[in-house]
Amino acid sequence: MSKVYSVAVLVGSLRKASINRKVALALADLAPATLSLKIIEIGDLPLYNEDIDVNPPASYTAFRQALGGCDAVLFVTPEYNRSVPAPLKNAIDVGSRPYGQSSWGNKPGAVISVSPGAVGGFGANHHLRQSMVFLNVPMMQQPEAYVGNAGALFDDAGHLSEKSKPFLQSFIDAFATWVEQHKK
Ligand code: FNR
Repeated sequence: MSKVYSVAVLVGSLRKASINRKVALALADLAPATLSLKIIEIGDLPLYNEDIDVNPPASYTAFRQALGGCDAVLFVTPEYNRSVPAPLKNAIDVGSRPYGQSSWGNKPGAVISVSPGAVGGFGANHHLRQSMVFLNVPMMQQPEAYVGNAGALFDDAGHLSEKSKPFLQSFIDAFATWVEQHKK
């Protein structure tokens, strides 16, 4: 039997009705058997502050342990003001410390940005990639995933539209291959 890789899924929106969260759950359903996706919550992480990290809050420690225990990471995020939403950037910063003990290193990663707008969160997608280069996370290049007009992704009952399924399927299948190739 082939190995099953655990994937930490970080959702950049904290709101209950988040389209990005729905996309994350849809990807978990579509994922091939070699990937096990699990959302790691980021909403209760205090804003990163080196002073409080001298005695880290329990939420920092739990987040670092959860992330560190996973083989790979998947970001599903909206764009806020053409960049990464603050809660997600905060989670990236929390995971990167204490200095020399980053929880990110060498985990294969991917990002899918999702927006009701036409540009599909391109700015957030690439700003996030910039941080991940520094944190030594090899990010999947293709397929790029800028999902625009996201209001049409789900019907009133919350089901993913048939039209959207093939792209999300190709994205998560490519990520499974990426993880196998890059996981050391
Ligand atoms: C937005 N939104 C947004 N959309 C976009 O495509 N580019 C942007 O730069 C912004 N900027 C922005 C800033 C802030 C503060 C908010 C609250 C929203 C709109 C955003 O894409 C929309 O609210 C999405 O629905 C958010 O994703 P979730 O919450 O549905 O997952």
